[in-house]
Amino acid sequence: MANNEFQPLQGMSDIPAPEIYLWRMMEERARNVFTSYGYDELRTPVLEKITVFQRSLGETTDVVKKEMYSFKPSKHELAMRPEGTAGTMRHLAGRGEEGLNARVFYIAPMFRYERPQAGRKRQFHQVGVEATGEPNPLADAEAIALQKSLLDAWGLTGSTIKVSTRGEPDDRPKVAEGLREALRPYEQELCEDCQRRIDENVLRVIDCKNESCQKIVDQIPSPIEFMSEASRGYLDQVIQALDAMGVEVTVDPKLIRGLDYYVHTVWEISHSALGAQDALAGGGRYLIDLGKKRIPGVGFAVGFERAIMALEACGISGEQFAPEGGIWLVSLGEKALMENMKLAAELRAKGIRCGMELAAKSMKAQMRKAGRSGAAKVVIRGDDEITNQTLIIKDMEQGTQEDAPLAELFDRI
Ligand code: HAM
Repeated sequence: MANNEFQPLQGMSDIPAPEIYLWRMMEERARNVFTSYGYDELRTPVLEKITVFQRSLGETTDVVKKEMYSFKPSKHELAMRPEGTAGTMRHLAGRGEEGLNARVFYIAPMFRYERPQAGRKRQFHQVGVEATGEPNPLADAEAIALQKSLLDAWGLTGSTIKVSTRGEPDDRPKVAEGLREALRPYEQELCEDCQRRIDENVLRVIDCKNESCQKIVDQIPSPIEFMSEASRGYLDQVIQALDAMGVEVTVDPKLIRGLDYYVHTVWEISHSALGAQDALAGGGRYLIDLGKKRIPGVGFAVGFERAIMALEACGISGEQFAPEGGIWLVSLGEKALMENMKLAAELRAKGIRCGMELAAKSMKAQMRKAGRSGAAKVVIRGDDEITNQTLIIKDMEQGTQEDAPLAELFDRI
């Protein structure tokens, strides 16, 4: 492939301007929304012992079985995080009682060795939250509402929320047995993977993307039908609370989610702009197994790259958030160049965005750069202006120009 040498690895991207301005807007608003719900930011390392992920996400999940970047530099096998919940729980487990009733959020890169396509990357970014604590339908509903607030703050419209339940941990054997029995008559018609999944992890058959498997799944009872009254009642309470908060959701009993740590409520947010990879966010209640400790909680993660695809479909792009305003200094001659270096430092010290050419260039070339920088005003100085302690101020939007004493610069801009 041509120019491969200068491309990032397959499935990974550089994020230059102007796209980065959209990322910065999203990060800033995410921090504001999460802070308003009482969450604190947490940053954990990209690398963890592989067991942190194996135990909590589930040994038979695709993410753990096929998608982790792992290596063994010394005694322990390590992996680059494929998601944010496991590492967050590893951290909270070390904080004793306080960790069992915590609210944290993260904005971080994740790594999955997947087949890259639109909306599916090998390095992608998640903004996520986790709230630890015993199962409580109100906490689950609040997490869903929080996620909705985040999408609203970004200006994203047209997304839909699907909700379901994985039931109580005690329901699992009953659900698995019921599904197995229902699927047996169709076993030979299932894809090869699902024939294996029936015994290994039967819930995975329910969310198999294969069309012929989907047809069979449509004919059998949903997992919810094998669950206890308590599990169904829990979901009803979540829906009631969402209703009270005015958050619209649809119940999809076939929604499973790809990770094994979920119990009770699970949800996914999709957007029509995303095509095949239509989930832009997912979350749920979980019980994370860390070997010596199990931590209950609820949380979600939104994929930045997919959210951006959806935002762009809504007409929102990086250009709209490019830094603008500020000053561009034009220097005509060596003396003005030195004086402008000094002036630029003074302006920047006052927090004013300020740029200039650092070599003697023609007026035309400097004005072109000024235009590209998005500066609201251009300040022009040559030998005469330096001697007379004056300057020329040009308003870029109106195209007007005026002379002013240097001492009045700050008042005039
Ligand atoms: P997840 O559904 O695996 O959940 O990922 C959440 C979101 O990350 C997805 O909806 C998607 O937007 C994005 N995502 C996942 N894989 C890729 C990929 N290969 N390329 C681009 N985007 C991707 C979790 O990771 C859970 N930890 C969420 C959670 C937090 N549940 C409870 N707390």
